[in-house]
Amino acid sequence: MPQKKDINQVTKVNKQIYIETYGCQMNFSDSEIVASVMMSEGFDVAKKLPEADVILLNTCSIRDHAEQRVLNRLRELQHLRKKRPGLIIGVLGCMAERLKSDLLEGEDKGIRVDMVAGPDAYRQLPQLLMDAESGQKAINVLLSADETYADISPVRYAAGGVSAFISIMRGCENFCAYCVVPFTRGKERSRNPESVLSETRALIQDGYREVTLLGQNVNSYLWKDDGVRTGFSELLGMVAALDPKLRVRFATSHPKDISDNLLHRMAEYPNICKAIHLPVQSGSTAVLSRMNRKYTRTDYLDRIRAIKEILPGCAISTDLIAGFCGETEEEHMETLSLMEEVGYDFAFMFKYSERPGTLAAKKHKDDVPEKVKTRRLNEIIEKQQQLSLISNQQDIGSVQEVLVEGRSKRSEDQLMGRAENNKVVIFPDESFSQGDYVKVEITACSSATLKGIPVKE
Ligand code: 5AD
Ligand code: SF4
Repeated sequence: MPQKKDINQVTKVNKQIYIETYGCQMNFSDSEIVASVMMSEGFDVAKKLPEADVILLNTCSIRDHAEQRVLNRLRELQHLRKKRPGLIIGVLGCMAERLKSDLLEGEDKGIRVDMVAGPDAYRQLPQLLMDAESGQKAINVLLSADETYADISPVRYAAGGVSAFISIMRGCENFCAYCVVPFTRGKERSRNPESVLSETRALIQDGYREVTLLGQNVNSYLWKDDGVRTGFSELLGMVAALDPKLRVRFATSHPKDISDNLLHRMAEYPNICKAIHLPVQSGSTAVLSRMNRKYTRTDYLDRIRAIKEILPGCAISTDLIAGFCGETEEEHMETLSLMEEVGYDFAFMFKYSERPGTLAAKKHKDDVPEKVKTRRLNEIIEKQQQLSLISNQQDIGSVQEVLVEGRSKRSEDQLMGRAENNKVVIFPDESFSQGDYVKVEITACSSATLKGIPVKE
């Protein structure tokens, strides 16, 4: 879900940088690479946004709404120029890639941007910054066929953190009809497994207890070296074997290539969390075909059957789009029935938003009226709330191993952590610390969270 996160803030001797991240976990992970590039050039961290000499917005283009939020934010930030003469405002990430030099020409709309860098241009940021400071056009939106930033150690802004993201591949070549990502992030490329392992070892050394291996489509991870092929299930096993106390997760899987082999690998390692995010997008084969998803409803349900067989009790979550081009009422009903059939534990749910340049924008009409999209989305949300509640109720009475992430936002004397199935668990603090594994008996729930009490051992 797109959400804004204030991250690290980084300065070249006295120069303060501040990064705000929008969009997906990939972007969140990219901002850590940006921080690392800038810090190695001697830049430093701004404690507060108004202190920053350079503000970088790492942006998302997935839906029109995500872009509008960033444009509003850019408008809002302009007043800081009066307080800090010489302030540089830069746009990074997917919007930089999609809108390119248009972003440098938005002054008539009240938006002045000094610097634009696409997802494969982060090594050039120090140079771009110098160009911007000297009043030159500072833009690099070249996509690369091989950039993976493998040699850059991301700066983890949450020092003393528990859970970290590790990007294992970049780009996407699936070309789902609705999706802008293949255009903004370019060709698929995998990162050397050795660099993934050494990054994981460093995280373990720093006290991290959970890693999530990230890619737009992790199942197509592939590294070839001297005729030796390392696929995703091998990589997952290699990471999990580093430390049995390290929880390993991954995202995102494409239903067309989540193999039995991978499911068996998950079964083999107790520390690979039994939770799979498997975006379905629609329950209708006809809609899936218009979406260019390359699987049918039956294919998808076959993968669900394999998960339930090989990994009994595995949590399953998904992404759903309401009101894609040409979606009929019957096709929408098929989405609701598929949700019921799978019994998802959790879902991200969206209204279709046409993105310029995508296959759908070229080939199909965005013809489902806004009111109908909203109503269908609400029906999907309502269905998921029922399913999440049922799923959470089934956990009552069970004992879950919870990794403590911090204090509950609602109550000082309660802690918050996640169970293996990725559900949030709230329980009383009995002198536990961040990063502890605590056995918690689940005693109550809502559709969003579990509540429990620590089990005395
Ligand atoms: N409109 C609505 N939702 C979209 N997604 C991707 N592109 C669009 C779009 N144009 C959703 C998909 C994807 C998730 C990351 O965002 O469900 O899995
Ligand atoms: Fe947004 Fe997709 Fe880009 Fe992530 S990859 S920032 S979700 S457009």
